[in-house]
Amino acid sequence: MDRFECLICGPVASRDPYSPFCPGCAEPLFLVPAARSGGKIIHEDRPLALERFADFLPLDGIDPGLSLGEGMTPLVRLGRTGAAMGLAAVYAKNEAQNPTGSFKDRGTAVAVQKAVSLGIKRIGTVSTGNMAASTAAYGARAGLETFVLLKEGTAVTSLKAAGIHGPRLIAVEGDYGSLFRASLDVGKRLGISFMNSIDPYRMEGYKLTAFEIYLQMGRRSPRFLFVPLSSGGHLLGLMRAFEDLEREKLIATYPTFVGVQAQGCAPLATAFAAGLDRYERPAEVRTIAHAISNPTPPAGNAVLRLIHDHKGILLAVTDEEMLEAQRELAAAEGLFCQPESATTLAALKKLVAAGRIAEKSGDAVLVLTGSGLKTPHLLESVPVEIHRIPLSGLESCLSRLF
Ligand SMILES: Cc1ncc(COP(=O)(O)O)c(C=O)c1O
Ligand SMILES: [Zn+2]
Repeated sequence: MDRFECLICGPVASRDPYSPFCPGCAEPLFLVPAARSGGKIIHEDRPLALERFADFLPLDGIDPGLSLGEGMTPLVRLGRTGAAMGLAAVYAKNEAQNPTGSFKDRGTAVAVQKAVSLGIKRIGTVSTGNMAASTAAYGARAGLETFVLLKEGTAVTSLKAAGIHGPRLIAVEGDYGSLFRASLDVGKRLGISFMNSIDPYRMEGYKLTAFEIYLQMGRRSPRFLFVPLSSGGHLLGLMRAFEDLEREKLIATYPTFVGVQAQGCAPLATAFAAGLDRYERPAEVRTIAHAISNPTPPAGNAVLRLIHDHKGILLAVTDEEMLEAQRELAAAEGLFCQPESATTLAALKKLVAAGRIAEKSGDAVLVLTGSGLKTPHLLESVPVEIHRIPLSGLESCLSRLF
């Protein structure tokens, strides 16, 4: 039997399987890591990421047939980008290489394993893009009836990227935060398991990114870990994973986490800057970074608490800063990520400029959460020079461009 805990109330005696929230205080619930006699080990010889880190996951068994080969993404050294800032060791964990192009697959993979093992036949999610595609893909793979609730006005490419997997796609008018809560209530009445952004099993899946970074760094923590931040599910999964590694005495130091929001929707960075332990909904939301624009993040207060406990940092960057960082990663490093993911580089640059990170500070890892191909509409304004020539002018054109 899985056990759950709340960061405020501690262990909870029972929970509603259709709700990710604590029955006592309505903050998110987390799985209590089960102890393992003799300690937990990483099985590096196993083929799937889920199998490698099985000791840390709340799954009794793993069905490889449900996997799409998620995880085991590369940690890429950003030599030029680091050197430009005077830093020797900057890395990107490229989550765009997951099966549907974002980190969401790691969480969906675990949530779907759990759902199938419990005999659940209907799953769903509420999403503006990445989670829709991920849930639809894994739902198709598992042969589950899948319901995807999207915000009315979601970009057509996102609709189609999820829709091609054959889920029931429902575009809902109205407030996204209210839709999140309504999905859980309706899901409970109709028997649909909604695995939304802070589903406790989804957050367990996100832990695997941290375990892989630990391995790829040579079995140690990076000094800084930069993560884009919206609902808070992803950041909390990564933070809890390093707590697991600490508990197993596998790391000597805990990384400094830097959660990054878009300035046009930054309730958590604002609360952090003011030293508050609860956030307030911003009066206005204005950013191109839709994937991280959530004015009422359901795990927001839990993020503030864990960031406080672990001496982390939350900050915001502007749309211009993230777009510039996106172009820089593409042109200097060959990595094409979503602007939301490039917030991590923009934030690192800000901390370096402010003198808070320097060469002697140690290494920094940026988690690039999703592929740039996810947001083609944002490419229209990218300045790309095209040389238009007749065939007869090919050689002279090429030699002029040397
Ligand atoms: C590309 C990308 N980065 C980051 C996030 C933020 O993750 P979370 O909502 O778990 O904080 C999202 C969420 O949808 C996303 O799509
Ligand atoms: Zn609670």
